[in-house]
Amino acid sequence: AQIIDINMGCPAKKVCRKAAGSALLADEELVANILHAVVAAVDVPVTLKIRTGPTPERRNGVTIARIAEDAGIAAIAVHGRSRACAFGGEAEYDTIAAIAATVDIPVWANGDIDSPAKAQAVLAHTGAAGIMIGRAAQGRPWLCGQVAARLGGRPVPATPDRDTQFAVLSEHLAALHAFYGDFLGPRIARKHVGWYLTDAGVSAETRRLFNRLETPAAQLALLAELAARQPTQDLAA
Ligand SMILES: Cc1cc2nc3c(=O)[nH]c(=O)nc-3n(C[C@H](O)[C@H](O)[C@H](O)COP(=O)(O)O)c2cc1C
Repeated sequence: AQIIDINMGCPAKKVCRKAAGSALLADEELVANILHAVVAAVDVPVTLKIRTGPTPERRNGVTIARIAEDAGIAAIAVHGRSRACAFGGEAEYDTIAAIAATVDIPVWANGDIDSPAKAQAVLAHTGAAGIMIGRAAQGRPWLCGQVAARLGGRPVPATPDRDTQFAVLSEHLAALHAFYGDFLGPRIARKHVGWYLTDAGVSAETRRLFNRLETPAAQLALLAELAARQPTQDLAA
């Protein structure tokens, strides 16, 4: 691996029940032990992903970030929600700003960034070294290029037209097949393709059709058929 990224941001119950993911944020001593052990054990940079704290009342993100810096963590990504918030409400960026002002390692701000303008506003508000985008880029990978252009002071490229979007999707799908193989590839591809197709206005029925396909060839063929249709002509119609 080129880096190791430790995930102390996951709020999923099955993860937190085992005192992993964001449940760790409540135990600062354990966090320190884990981070020191991992950094000492590997030669590659170790980065850390956290939330602002266990609950909105206990936002210990600054303390955790200090612990991380002391342990030799190379950079830290902060999702502006607490563990208890899960994905509810809106991300808050004040805690991220406090963390960025406290530690010298790069801090990446994360949470609810869904446009070039929002990216720029969050960077300005937090003073972070960079931003991280999750859900908004699902099925819309070109968003990252649009954000990069805005942050770099260049004109923001237009969102690709439908043909280009299908071309990107086909390339992404073929890459998933190549990377994960003929069995896992089509299965892992389903959620990714679902995100693109939902955005492209393809019906739930057609997406279900896609999700029943089991081979790379069948998935690519259905996609090609969809791409050739007019947006209003759905396969399921
Ligand atoms: C389906 C899904 C899977 C995720 N998996 C990971 C993960 O493996 N590691 C991680 O650090 N964060 C993971 N996250 C959290 C995101 O990195 C991010 O912190 C969160 O979605 C908030 O950012 P956003 O508002 O831009 O989506 C995941 C989020 C979602 C929705």
